Amino acid sequence: MTQRTLVLLKPDAVRRGLVGEIIGRIERKAGWQITALELRTLDRATLETHYGEHVGKPFYEPLIEFMSSGPVVALVVEGERVVEGLRTLAGPTDPIAAAPGSIRGDYGTIVRENLIHASDSEGSAERELKIFFPGLV
Ligand code: RTP
Ligand code: MG
Repeated sequence: MTQRTLVLLKPDAVRRGLVGEIIGRIERKAGWQITALELRTLDRATLETHYGEHVGKPFYEPLIEFMSSGPVVALVVEGERVVEGLRTLAGPTDPIAAAPGSIRGDYGTIVRENLIHASDSEGSAERELKIFFPGLV
């Protein structure tokens, strides 16, 4: 089942020079394709829309601050079961709980700076793709 998803390489991944490493892992999955890619610094309005589900939670303000602290790399990835597949490749939110071999498990230690965002469902993917790539058909 071909799907598409939104991936953000968070400011920590860009700062630490891990963009190539992470994109390489995505490229090596058979049949998945990167169909859009852009380095950009996110403004607060974009982040508030993107992370609207977390408004009011204790980690919300620090999350917005972190996500606007430097450029991110935004990607559209398409392919077989790519929504679930990218969540698996990323690993769970807490990098210490994430298995080695996953991106968060291999490179992260603290929950906020967990390197990568990937849409958590097909519905979220469609919503988020409209925010970051409104020109997409
Ligand atoms: P994401 O949305 O970024 O792909 O991450 P996720 O689904 O795995 O996790 P989510 O619950 O949606 O949380 C969004 C991001 O907020 C930061 N966070 N900090 N307790 C904390 O300090 C905390 N909890 C979440 C992380 O950057 C997480 O990825
Ligand atoms: Mg999430």
